[in-house]
Amino acid sequence: MSMNESNKTPTTIVIFGASGDLAQRKLVPALFHLYRKGRLAQGTRVVGFARRPYSDEDFRSRLRTGVQEFGRGQFESNAWQSFATRLRYFQGELGTGDDYRRLEGFLREFEADGTHRLYYLATSPTFYGPAVAHLGQADMVRQGEARRDIIIEKPFGSDLASAQALNRSVHAVFNESQVYRIDHYLGKETAQNILFFRFGNTIFEPVWNRRYVNDVQINVTESVDVGDRGGYYDQAGVLRDMFQNHLLQLLTLVAMEPPASFDADALRNEKVKVLSAIRAIDLGDTLRGQYEGYGQTPGVAVDSQTATYGSLKLFVDNWRWQGVPFYLRSGKALANKSSEIVIRFQCPPHLMFDLPRDYELTPNVLSIFIQPDEGIHLKFETKVPDSPQETRSVDMEFHYRSSFPDAAVPEAYERLLLDALKGDASLFARSDEIDLSWRLIDPLIQAWRSPEAPPLAIYEPGSSGPVWPGAPESPDRPAHQEG
Ligand code: BG6
Repeated sequence: MSMNESNKTPTTIVIFGASGDLAQRKLVPALFHLYRKGRLAQGTRVVGFARRPYSDEDFRSRLRTGVQEFGRGQFESNAWQSFATRLRYFQGELGTGDDYRRLEGFLREFEADGTHRLYYLATSPTFYGPAVAHLGQADMVRQGEARRDIIIEKPFGSDLASAQALNRSVHAVFNESQVYRIDHYLGKETAQNILFFRFGNTIFEPVWNRRYVNDVQINVTESVDVGDRGGYYDQAGVLRDMFQNHLLQLLTLVAMEPPASFDADALRNEKVKVLSAIRAIDLGDTLRGQYEGYGQTPGVAVDSQTATYGSLKLFVDNWRWQGVPFYLRSGKALANKSSEIVIRFQCPPHLMFDLPRDYELTPNVLSIFIQPDEGIHLKFETKVPDSPQETRSVDMEFHYRSSFPDAAVPEAYERLLLDALKGDASLFARSDEIDLSWRLIDPLIQAWRSPEAPPLAIYEPGSSGPVWPGAPESPDRPAHQEG
């Protein structure tokens, strides 16, 4: 990420699939916020490409509703009106080559020389390959002075073979340096802060290894169920939906070696090294669950075996992490929405205090709360006042809310769109990261379908999910910090 916080070059952002949810809920609200902060270059425009017969006005009013409903803060009508003049709609079919040629003509009518283009694939994934090929055939990708980049939404493939095939189709048309594969977890302020916390301080990195760390947990729990996404989710399940991307990306940030510079490739090289050091996951180290009532969701097979909850243990086979278990856990319809990384340290090797032999000291625990109530807590032992030698663990806390009361934590899409506009791919997944993460998750997806699969644990919606005796409990969050 560069320190320069605005995009300087006029860019046309073409959103394919612009009549869908993502554009309305996330992309346009994020672009509007960037606009209000003065971070979009003069002459930047947003063109929506979709099938519905919208006029520019229909499109704008749909997006306005989106910003009002899903954008942050007070809606500013004047700012919206001036932003809305930059929004255009183009009706076209994703599968029709001619429509891309017409689109090219349409864009050229208003684009000044040197205007960059950022294509955004917010369509159903089945169109990713065809859309990329059509962009190539319509000669909309060749770069002269002006960049021609593409953002591709998750999911990137549905298994290793399809991800590799998609990468081949993309590379047949775009250079890797033009491609931005989104994982919105990397755009979360607190996920980025993992790197600043580790590498912008001196006191944590020396203990960030197997000599001091007992285990690491990455817990991403959701209280929502699959809602109206049954059709997609029943094919995907929690491994594809959350583990292959978000959880493994968080793991790379926690486990990577310090890169020499904050440069996209330096950073991604280190992430790739972590992914390639992860040992094949043992089926016995996994647990799968499904919430009660999932089979009644529209779009889901009544006897579906799809996991809505997963928990697994893995090891990173390198000098730093040898023998340290990483526990990854994610599921839907659970008690809380919370994403956290918990580093549990080893207990002191010897206790000099006069305590009973079986006295249990609580290990030091560092918790990085990605969301909600973003912050960092460090738990350590303290002598209970006025007791001879009794100890209790206490919390040292940092909350964004109180340390930065005037700075709202931005939406992940704001960061990611701005970075892509500036040509900075640090927070986007490179093709080799995608490949390696599928290599890890794909065998598990197959194994969870085989007769050897662990039984599907049915859990109650709103509960804390199936209990796996092998995994450490997530440390309790002090009650007053519940977000
Ligand atoms: C998406 C998944 O990638 O991430 C969803 O497809 C999930 O199923 C969502 O709900 C979680 O994102 P967040 O930002 O709400 O934690």
